[in-house]
Amino acid sequence: MGKTIMMTDNSLKLYEQVVHYLVVRIEAGEWTEHEKLPSVRSLSELLGVHRLTVFKAYQELKERGNVYVKDKSGYYVSPADPAPIMDQADDPAVSAWLHWDSLDRVQSLEAEFQFSKSLIDPALLPNRYWGELMRDLLNHYPRLLGTYSTNQGDLELRSELASHLTSRERFYISADEVLITSGAQQAIDLIARSLVKPGDRVLVERPTYGPAMEIFRKQGAKLVFTDITSEGYDLDQIELLMKQEKPKLFYMTPTFQNPTGINIPVEQRKQLPELAEQYGCFLVEDDSTYDIYFKEKPPAPIFTYDTTGHTLYIRSYSKYVVPGLRIAAIMCRPRFMPGLQAIKSLADNGSPLLNQKLFLRYFQSPRMYQHISKLCTAIQLRMEVMEKCLKETDWRWTTPQGGLNIWVELPEGMDTGKLLHRCMEHSVAFVPGTVFDPSDPGASRKLRLSYSYAHEQQIYEGMSRLIELAHKMT
Ligand SMILES: Cc1ncc(COP(=O)(O)O)c(C=O)c1O
Repeated sequence: MGKTIMMTDNSLKLYEQVVHYLVVRIEAGEWTEHEKLPSVRSLSELLGVHRLTVFKAYQELKERGNVYVKDKSGYYVSPADPAPIMDQADDPAVSAWLHWDSLDRVQSLEAEFQFSKSLIDPALLPNRYWGELMRDLLNHYPRLLGTYSTNQGDLELRSELASHLTSRERFYISADEVLITSGAQQAIDLIARSLVKPGDRVLVERPTYGPAMEIFRKQGAKLVFTDITSEGYDLDQIELLMKQEKPKLFYMTPTFQNPTGINIPVEQRKQLPELAEQYGCFLVEDDSTYDIYFKEKPPAPIFTYDTTGHTLYIRSYSKYVVPGLRIAAIMCRPRFMPGLQAIKSLADNGSPLLNQKLFLRYFQSPRMYQHISKLCTAIQLRMEVMEKCLKETDWRWTTPQGGLNIWVELPEGMDTGKLLHRCMEHSVAFVPGTVFDPSDPGASRKLRLSYSYAHEQQIYEGMSRLIELAHKMT
C-alpha cells in the first residue's frame, strides 16, 4: 500500500489533499512546465487513495489551469501563467499594486542616503567578536562543515530556543515545536505553501509587509484587508471578515508593525486567539524586531495567549542579532509540523548547520543581550535625529517606540512614488507607501523611512535633501 498524504488541515476533502499535494510539488519544481505528471493509477498507488480521487484532483487542476491533458497520453504541467495576477487586475487592490515597485526592487536601488533598508548598519554589530566565535566553533566541531543539519533544524539550537522562550517569555514549547528557517521570509513562504491553497482567503493588515502579500498571492490566495491604526486592530471588523470571508489565516505583524511601528494592545492580543478558534482561522504572527525597543518592552506575543494552538509564531533573529546567518524560527503546535517539514525539505533540506551552530554560540553567550541593549540605544539616537528633521515639516507621523521604521504621511496632493524618482537623482532612497498598502489610494502620499541603516550625519544630510525635494513638488 502506498503512503498516506500528510496534511495539516483535516478539514480538506481527500481529493483536495491530492490537489494540494500536486500544487505544492509543481510550485517547488518537482515537475516542470510541460512535464508529464504521474498517471492516475501510479499516483493512487503512491498515495494510497482511490483512482477516482486522483482523477477528480486532476480535473480540478485542469479547470484551474495548473495542468493540461494530451489525448491518451496523460496530464502535463501547464506553463507558468500570470493568471493569478491578471485575473485580479480589475481588483483595485491588485491593480494599484501592479503599478508600483515591489519592496525588493526599491531596496535594490543604490543610494548614499539609504532609508529604504529596514536593516541594521553593520558598523553597529560585533563583527570582530563573531570572528572569534567562528574560530572557536570550528575548533570545537572540526567536522562541522562536513555535516548536514536535520531538516527541522539543529536539535541543540531548537532546545535552546524552546527553553529560552519558555523561561523568559512564557512560551511553554518544546524543541519539537520549533522549526529553524532561513529568515522570517522563508518562514512566511513555508507557512503559505503548507496551509494556503489557490482560492483561499488570507487576511492581512492594511498596511502590511509587501513581500508577505506577494507570497500569499503567488500561492493563489485572495487578500482581504483589515485596518491597523494607532489604537490597534478593529476587532469587530476582523470578526465580520472572519465570519463572511472565512480566511484560512490572518498574517499579522503585531509588534512594531512593519511599516507603521504600531504595537497591538494587550487586550486585543488576548482576544485574537479566541476569534481565531471561533472562526477556524489560523494566526500567523510575524515578529522580526521584538527586542528592539526604546523605553518599554513590547507586550507579550499573541502566541503566549493562545491556548488552542491556532497561532504559528515567527521569531526572526536575522535582522538585529546576526544578519548574515539569517536565523529565524517557526514556533507552533505539533499538528502543523509534518506539513511544514515536508515543504522545508523541498525548499532546502534544512538550513545550513554552520549558521545554526554559530548562532547558538552567540545566543548562549552573555554578550548577545548586552549587545542588543547597546544597539537599542544607538538606534534610538538615530530615530531621534530623523524625527528632529521631520519636525521641520508639516508631515504627520507617530514617534516609534521600537523597531526600525517611521511611517510618514505627507500633505494632500503629494505622490511619494514620484518623489522617490526625484530623490533617487539625489541619492536618497525610501519606500513609497503603496508598496505596503496597495488598496488605499491615500497610501500614495505615505512613505516608510528606516532610521537604522544610515548613520546620524547621513540622516541629517539625506533628510534635508528629501524635505527640500518634497517642498519643490508642492
Ligand atoms: C515584517 C517582516 N517580516 C519578515 C521580514 C523578513 O525578515 P528576515 O530577514 O528574517 O527574512 C521582514 C524584513 O524586513 C519584515 O519586516
